Amino acid sequence: MMRNAKYIWQSGVVLLVVLLLAWPAGIGVRNSAAEEQGTATPAGAGQTAVPEAPSGFVLLLTGNWGGQIEPCGCSEKQLGGIDRRSHILKAIPASGRLLVDAGPLIDKEDLQSRLKFETFLFSLKHLNYDAIGLSGEELLVKNELKPSELPPLVMTNMAEPARQTFEALGYLQKTLAAGEEQLDCLVLSLARELPASATDHQKKLVQLQDSAAAVKEMLASLNIDPEKSTPDRLIVVTMSEKNKGLAEKLQQMPALDVIATVGTADEPELCEAKTGPVMVTTGRLGKYIVRIDVPFGYRDNPSQLRFQRIAIEEDFEKDAVIVSRIDDYQLQMQIEQLVEDETKIVRQPLEGGNRFVGNVSCGAADCHEDIYQKWREFRHGYALETLEKVNRQYDPSCVSCHTVGMAYESGFRSREKTPDLADVGCEMCHGPGEKHQQDVYEEYQTVFTACEQCHDHESSPKFEKEREDYFKKIEHWTVPREYWE
Ligand code: HEC
Ligand code: HEC
Ligand code: HEC
Repeated sequence: MMRNAKYIWQSGVVLLVVLLLAWPAGIGVRNSAAEEQGTATPAGAGQTAVPEAPSGFVLLLTGNWGGQIEPCGCSEKQLGGIDRRSHILKAIPASGRLLVDAGPLIDKEDLQSRLKFETFLFSLKHLNYDAIGLSGEELLVKNELKPSELPPLVMTNMAEPARQTFEALGYLQKTLAAGEEQLDCLVLSLARELPASATDHQKKLVQLQDSAAAVKEMLASLNIDPEKSTPDRLIVVTMSEKNKGLAEKLQQMPALDVIATVGTADEPELCEAKTGPVMVTTGRLGKYIVRIDVPFGYRDNPSQLRFQRIAIEEDFEKDAVIVSRIDDYQLQMQIEQLVEDETKIVRQPLEGGNRFVGNVSCGAADCHEDIYQKWREFRHGYALETLEKVNRQYDPSCVSCHTVGMAYESGFRSREKTPDLADVGCEMCHGPGEKHQQDVYEEYQTVFTACEQCHDHESSPKFEKEREDYFKKIEHWTVPREYWE
């Protein structure tokens, strides 16, 4: 049992350095990392943070993907990608590790999310995950999809008959083995409530129960007293929601060792607690893996338990099988014509019956021809081509920011159907142009905050700091700067 353990949470960068150094070659050790060895000594470096061949067991936790299969590639040095982690996992023998996803993988139930969900399940199975907790939207789509590849699903707070229809387990038991040593592990997963869109019929099918009660009941069925610590077993509970009340209830169960939950930060966090199980958040968007090292004999010396966040770096080698599955996913979106077909995604009407007219219309000879020419040559003017180069032109979650008005009734559909609405056109900053075209005195909009709808923290991390430079680069106006600053 790990009560009173002194938990050590180390900074991602330093850890990654240690990790890269400690693991066998083939991980892509960079020189800079090697150089830092002498100076960057992590806290408690005396105890080997990551043994060469781990002389202990390893718990690996992920979760809260928000549908992010891979980073968008809009800027440099983005973390994450389901295809970029296999070598991290391969470095630890499957028999000596417990690899668990707390969920949720997707957070919507639209067609794209369904295709994503299948891609996720395939990939997690391929990566040999031991347990996945499903919840929310996933429960609504799982049985409709009947995915071909299914990693072990665990749903502890679901009534048994429902669990059977979901092909899910109430708990997962795994005995880790490394050398002569063994460690019995138990995983319980708690699904969050169904989304508001769930029908009564769906609610009835899913049969979610009170989570804390379900944990106690499940433990009791395994002859484990939730009130007592269990020295012969490591028990992990995952929650796919931020739920303070539930977390507090779980922390009062001495039988539990680790609670993995959903947080708000991209980076995993260790929630310090003086007593009770250790609580850790999984981070968001697949950018990190939480690694908890459980050395042999840790029970005699619980302070050896170690926590790390492993950043999934841009230059990590990609897994060819998953890359090919992601290609299939892109192909499915092309076949389904998610962007092109009027009915496959929700399209909003524009305010006041206005419509998009397109870049060429704005740049007509007697209108803004000079501005049009300038725009064409700048990056906004070939933003769709950028997607075509990386084969993401059929992915609505990319096209929405790289074209005009995809999410609206008169917006972009495809290069063939709406060639003039390709790229980040005039109307993405100035608003739909039909009324202005019919009557030039009809004000066109310039919303200086328009930039942030696309230049957000994820896609354009430099924008906030270099705002002025960004404006300078697209300058095509004569209005004095003070006017809009
Ligand atoms: C509809 C989405 C969208 C809006 C709105 C938008 N941008 Fe962009 N911007 C993009 C995309 C996409 C790219 C990258 C295009 C490419 O390279 O294919 C980009 C690229 C840029 C670049 C090039 C960056 C570089 O380092 O060269 C600048 C500068 C820029 N935008 C400025 C702005 C400013 C200023 C605004 C607001 C007035 C703005 N953008 C509004 C989507 C948008
Ligand atoms: C929220 C809006 C947004 C979404 C969604 C988006 N992009 Fe971008 N993209 C941008 C912006 C803004 C830039 C320019 C960033 C900069 O230079 O500051 C950009 C730039 C790019 C670039 C050029 C990078 C370079 O430096 O040459 C690529 C490639 C790209 N995006 C691909 C994608 C893909 C693939 C997707 C879908 C997975 C996607 N984008 C989704 C806004 C977006
Ligand atoms: C990335 C955002 C963005 C895009 C794309 C964009 N503009 Fe602008 N535009 C601005 C901003 C910002 C201003 C300056 C503030 C203002 O005048 O309201 C501006 C100003 C203007 C002005 C006023 C010029 C002046 O002399 O003051 C015109 C006309 C104009 N844009 C036309 C266009 C046309 C035509 C296109 C497409 C070919 C276009 N813009 C594309 C952001 C954009």
